[in-house]
Amino acid sequence: MSEPLVIIGAGGFGRETADVVEAINRSEPEPRWILLGVADDSPSDQNLEQLAAREIAYLGTTEELIARPDRPRYVVGIGFPQARRALAVGLDEAGFRAATLVHPEASIGSQCTVGQGTVVLAGARLTTNIRLGRHVHLNPNVTVGHDTVLEDFVSMNPASSVSGDCVVQSAAIIGVAAVVLNRLTVGAGALVGGNACVTKDVPAGATVKGVPAR
Ligand SMILES: CC(C)(COP(=O)(O)OP(=O)(O)OC[C@H]1O[C@@H](n2cnc3c(N)ncnc32)[C@H](O)[C@@H]1OP(=O)(O)O)[C@@H](O)C(=O)NCCC(=O)NCCS
Repeated sequence: MSEPLVIIGAGGFGRETADVVEAINRSEPEPRWILLGVADDSPSDQNLEQLAAREIAYLGTTEELIARPDRPRYVVGIGFPQARRALAVGLDEAGFRAATLVHPEASIGSQCTVGQGTVVLAGARLTTNIRLGRHVHLNPNVTVGHDTVLEDFVSMNPASSVSGDCVVQSAAIIGVAAVVLNRLTVGAGALVGGNACVTKDVPAGATVKGVPAR
């Protein structure tokens, strides 16, 4: 059954999320989602032109979305975890329900769970016994090892890798091409820089970079 869907965020990740929706629809006998359009509180002119070029409707601000009588499913396509959390909380309170979107060219192994609102882009590889929280973003070509937990609102940027038996706490960001070695914890809201190698636990709220990451 097709369901109406709205993406929040006209920026890069929002438009990448629209690609996931289109790929899911192409992969199924009948379209899974009817993409009504994109809401954004302050879209740039360039982003609006990019949506128009794809014939994706701009639906106005989130306030305007909430004022509508209907309640399509939603997904927040905004990379910054704190902004994502604020929008998701507001939409949940207004009676919307988040959709979960996994690109057909991503692979998710056995005994994995994926929370509502999570978006997985093409090429992501998840092995076994992995738990993804709500509104997690997995960018292209990330890998997540066995028995790892990514809590709510975590972002893994492109080609980053979290090894087995790790915990990445809520709203942490793993930078592009960074590696987290096995059995480590990345604290809530921490930021791991691009190309870093994390060899020790990262405290909550810390920014670390380099090899080894400090
Ligand atoms: C680590 C990071 C958070 C630092 O940001 P910042 O505090 O604004 O850092 P600055 O750009 O002011 O740079 C400060 C210093 O750190 C260095 N630096 C910045 N990022 C670095 C990184 N990833 N690894 C190693 N050194 C880095 C800079 O060269 C600079 O060094 P200098 O003082 O010798 O000139 C950021 O650079 C980063 O890697 N973010 C992740 C980006 C990402 O994932 N992008 C993909 C989006 S999809």
